[in-house]
Parts: sequence; structure tokens; C-alpha cells
Amino acid sequence: MNSFKGRSLCVIDDFTKEERLYLFSQVRKLKKAVSEDDSKTVDSFRINDSDFGIYEVFLEDSTRTKESFRNAANFHHAKLTEMSADNSSFNKGESFADTFNTLCGYNNRIFIIRSKVEGVCRHLSEECASYAKRNALPFTPAFINAGDGKHEHPTQELLDEYSFLEDNDWNTDSLHIALVGDLYHGRTVHSKADGLKLWSKVKVDLIAPEELAMPESYETKMKDNGFEVRTFRSIEEYLNQSDIATKWYFTRPQLERMGEKILAKADSLRASITFQKQFMDRLPEGTKFYHPLPRHKVHPTIPTFLDDTPLNGWEKQSINGMYCRIVLLALVAGRIGDDFSEEKVCCTAEETPWIIEVQPKATSAGKDEISEGVRPIRDGIVIDHICKGDSPDEIRRYMILIRKVMGLDGLKGGEWVSQSASGAFKGIIFRPGKFSLDHKQIKRLAAVAPGCTLNIIENGKVAKKYRTSLPPRIYNFDDLMCTNEACISNDSQNEHVQAMFIKTHDNRFACAYCGRVHTFKEIFKR
Ligand code: CP
Repeated sequence: MNSFKGRSLCVIDDFTKEERLYLFSQVRKLKKAVSEDDSKTVDSFRINDSDFGIYEVFLEDSTRTKESFRNAANFHHAKLTEMSADNSSFNKGESFADTFNTLCGYNNRIFIIRSKVEGVCRHLSEECASYAKRNALPFTPAFINAGDGKHEHPTQELLDEYSFLEDNDWNTDSLHIALVGDLYHGRTVHSKADGLKLWSKVKVDLIAPEELAMPESYETKMKDNGFEVRTFRSIEEYLNQSDIATKWYFTRPQLERMGEKILAKADSLRASITFQKQFMDRLPEGTKFYHPLPRHKVHPTIPTFLDDTPLNGWEKQSINGMYCRIVLLALVAGRIGDDFSEEKVCCTAEETPWIIEVQPKATSAGKDEISEGVRPIRDGIVIDHICKGDSPDEIRRYMILIRKVMGLDGLKGGEWVSQSASGAFKGIIFRPGKFSLDHKQIKRLAAVAPGCTLNIIENGKVAKKYRTSLPPRIYNFDDLMCTNEACISNDSQNEHVQAMFIKTHDNRFACAYCGRVHTFKEIFKR
């Protein structure tokens, strides 16, 4: 059983730490064999099947990723095809799903996709697996994310991790790294939020002006993953303290994406993240610079005078790209990897229940025992403790969405803002009548109003009572939507992908496609 065969790599976390270490051991073996002219070992990596279809679809510009994959596919003697998007039926409004299903039907097994649309590989890995099953194709197509918008660049992350290990004696105990540049747009640094879990102890220094700072959700993820994170607004500020990393990872400023206001400040923004000659003697011994490249010919943040110095780690890093991608293709094709096995730690951590039925108080609607929300109802529902702690105005505004999501508009009843014993404001919605809410409807309520209680009132008594908290996953509802317009599941993409959200450590919801983090108030369409 080869656990890599047919696998997709949509985000770096799709491969475990052990799987990546295995991949890196194979890259080491291949590089050694190439340097020693050991053709037998080199050949043992080759797919060597001219019918094995590998498809490159680059909907954004690329040199390194596209050409290293192309050279990797040629190494494998596989059938490499490049789709020309300019004259494809994309231009007739065809969906991603229809396009890639078609290409799967032509015996193509691995797709390498770069797109502005975030989460496209995750969507296609699900969609095309169903197509393959419906049509009894003898394989499950694999999708490799070659960079999707501002989201992730997992194959770049592979070669970055490999390069850090190679330059650090393959040590995975600890890593201290500075990430410098456009941390806001840079998908390669976003992949590091999970990728750097490869090291047991991680310290990350984020160096970027406020306008280009790392998005809060990635910084939070780094901290959740146990990294020590520090922030600095410029290289100058960073060098004015003594704890300086020996690995610096630069990213290209993408100011052109940020509108006129930012462009007016372009020079000072670039200056804050550009290395200067006078900084040289403030670097610790053994420092190496890395860069996913390209660097800008007019405004390089690693100036070219550094090319011929020991700081240059980026050239070897770029060369490693092809070897990492050769090995990745060999693994996904099932050519190598039979000898890998990972002891899966049983990780079925008990999920905290998110709908709890609690025993209603035995008393009937006595004057003093029943809250003001429950009291006026003989038969019906009372949703209590809505958005407890928010301001009255905020609660009132949000109850409009709850009514809509729960289909409670157009019915008798009302809603108001009350105060709990602690003095915190809370919202209450009541609806008289006969209601029988099923599990799916209570799940909707838990998603849209976590922390609320649902009281079912019969004959003036609380017949049933449920407490809700955030469900671990939310999906299968038509009115969910990721707020990221670049996400494949956002309505503006017209790809008809149903949104799905996963609960984060800090009780928010991350989109299962693009990773955008939302509060519970943001996931239902308004
Ligand atoms: N590092 C990287 O993704 O470069 P390209 O845009 O040239 O592929």
C-alpha cells in the first residue's frame, strides 16, 4: 500500500511532518545519485511511462514553478501537457469542474495548477474524484497547488523546508527565522504558518511595515502551533536588537495590488524591507538569505551585490525546486514510497458536544422562576442568551440575521434585548406556535448563534432545552458563504461550490477551501 499514490497537495498540511521528512530523504538520495552519476539510482525515481498524463495549468505567470515542474515531468519521461488558458473554453464561461473533469477523462492523472482563485485544488480534488468514480476511471486524479492567490504555495514550502534543513545539518530541533517583505500578499510565507511545524521549537520574526503585515489569521495560527512570534516594522528596527535570526526569508513586495494610496508610499515601504550594505556587519555569523524569487530588477530587496557572498542561500534553494518536484511527482505517481509507513497516532480526540440537551427546571411558569423570555409563551420557542455581552444595538442588528437563517421571519412573535444576572446584555427571540426543530435546524442555530439556549415551550412549561456551542464543522447549507471574493466557494466566482467551515482553536471558522478565518457572525449570507 503506497500512501502517497494519487494524493493531492492543496496546502502544506496535506502532507504530515513524517511524510515530508520522507520526501526530503528521497530528494537527498536523488541529488546524491545525480552528483555521483549513479544512473541506476536516478532511474529508480523515474515514472518512465509515456502514457502517464501530467497537466500543467498556469493561469498566472510563473518561471520557477512551471519550468521546474516541466523539467521534472521530462525527467520522468511522462506525457506532459500544458493547457493554454488563453484559447480554452474557460473563455466561454466553462467552470473549473467541467474543464478538469474533461481532462481527467483523457487519462491525465496529476494536475499542477496556479490560479488567482483560492482553494481551487481542494475543490477539484473532490469534484474530479467523484467524476472518476462515476466514469469508472482506473485512477483518482491528484491536484498540486502551484500557488493560489494569496493563500498557499505548498510546493515552494517543500523546497524551502528542504533548503533550510540542507543548510542546517538536517536538524529539526529548532529553527529561528526572519520573514521579511510583503507578508500580506506572500503565499509562500502563509504556507509557513503550518509548514514550520517540521521543527520542534520555532521562533519567527515578522519584518514588514504595517501595510504589508502578516494577516492576523496566519499570525494566530503560528502562535497556536506553538511558535514564538515577534513583529518588527523594518530591517533597521530588527537589527537594533540583539536576538537576530541566522535564516532570513525575503518575499517580493506586491505593491501593485494595493491601490494608489499605497503606491504613493512605495519608496518608503520598499526601503523598510530592503537589505543595505551598511547592515552587513550587524548580521550573526552563518546567516543565510532565502527568497522564493523572482526578485525585481529595479527594486530587489536582496541587492545583487550579495549574490557572490556566503549569504546567498536563494540560488541553491531555487535549484532544489526541481529535485523536490521530481520526488513529489514520483511519490504521487506511486513510483516510490512503498517503503514509507507512518505510525498513525490515534487522533480521534473526543469532540466537545456542541448541542447539549439540558433538563428543564421542573417548575411550571411560576412568577419568579421563569426568565422574562420564556414567560409570555404558552407553546412555542424561545431562543435566549443570543450574543451575550455584545452591545444592545449589535445584538438587535444580528438578530435580523438569526431570524433569516432560522426561517423565523413572517411569523408571530418578537425579539428584544434583556440583561442577564451578570449585567451582560443578551438577545431573546420568541415565536409562539408548534415547532419541532430537527438536528440539522439546531445545528444551524448553533452555527449562527453559538452560546444561545433553545427552549421548546409546551403548555406553559419548558418541555425541552438545548445549550449550543460552535459545531466543529459547518457545511451542507446553501446560505453559507466564505467572505473572500477570491475563494472558489464565494458566489462571485460562479463555480457553485458549497462553502464549508472548520472550527479553529480560537473558536472561529476557517474556510475549508481558502483558509480565510471568520467569526460565526460572518459565515451566513446576509
Ligand atoms: N517561486 C515562485 O513561485 O516563482 P515563479 O512565480 O517564477 O514560479
